Amino acid sequence: MIKVVIIGSGNVAQHLLLAFVQSKIVDVIQVYTRNKNNTTLPLDSNKITSNINALLEADVYFIAVVDNAIKEVSSLLNFSNKLVVHTSGSVAMNALDNKNRKGVFYPLQTFSKQKKVDFKEIPICIESQNNKDYELLEKIALSISNHVFNINSQQRKALHVSAVFVNNFVNHLYQIGQDICAENNIPFEILQSLILETSNKIISLSPSEAQTGPAIRNDTETINSHLNFLSDNNQKEIYKLITKSIIDHGKKL
Ligand SMILES: NC(=O)c1ccc[n+]([C@@H]2O[C@H](COP(=O)([O-])OP(=O)(O)OC[C@H]3O[C@@H](n4cnc5c(N)ncnc54)[C@H](OP(=O)(O)O)[C@@H]3O)[C@@H](O)[C@H]2O)c1
Repeated sequence: MIKVVIIGSGNVAQHLLLAFVQSKIVDVIQVYTRNKNNTTLPLDSNKITSNINALLEADVYFIAVVDNAIKEVSSLLNFSNKLVVHTSGSVAMNALDNKNRKGVFYPLQTFSKQKKVDFKEIPICIESQNNKDYELLEKIALSISNHVFNINSQQRKALHVSAVFVNNFVNHLYQIGQDICAENNIPFEILQSLILETSNKIISLSPSEAQTGPAIRNDTETINSHLNFLSDNNQKEIYKLITKSIIDHGKKL
């Protein structure tokens, strides 16, 4: 069995723990959390520690703490020449402390403790300093997911920016759509089928092939009537900016 220690008890730490429990080759021998008493970790309490100096000897240490704390936590580890990886989409591998071998194990999904996920379907982006460590991380990743990618720090940054567009920004647009519905006494659920079809479509079509609506058709009368309809300046600006982006992108093709 590959022995691992998870550092952190948040969303990613808990989902990783659940995925590793299902893996036939990974044994989570310990989890570190600053707040041992206030944890919902599905693990025997004798495997949970709040003492960063009492981490057990393992093959890999997974640092799943907030991005801002990765550097500091990696520098607090009181051992050297071990494989230490973080799980962040935006932090470079080199942010990890030099005394250990570095790697990244980034699961590209949005995780909340309360929401179950199917790890087999989640892409895992891995990176390491040497081939042997890469092979170990790949073995672990393939034991919990069917989608494993070799992605370096620069590519991961691009991927993370891209993910902000396709997830966070799109979700914010749902929020605006919901506000507009609420202001006009329309149940937001009416839009659910459209939302699902829009995201399902890009499995078989490229985003540019799937684009519909007044902007791609250059239907200026409809665009102007929408802009007149909107009273909120923020919504107007977003509408104008995205409309221009769709029209300009269409011209590029
Ligand atoms: N959530 C996602 O959708 C997602 C997806 C992919 C990757 N990631 C990455 O995974 C990592 C963890 O994200 P998360 O969503 O799991 O975060 P989270 O739920 O907010 O949990 C953060 C963890 O960081 C610990 N922590 C915060 N400051 C610390 C410090 N100074 N020293 C030690 N531990 C500290 C917290 O410990 P306490 O409980 O003791 O406060 C907690 O266990 C991040 O690098 C994030 O970018 C997140």
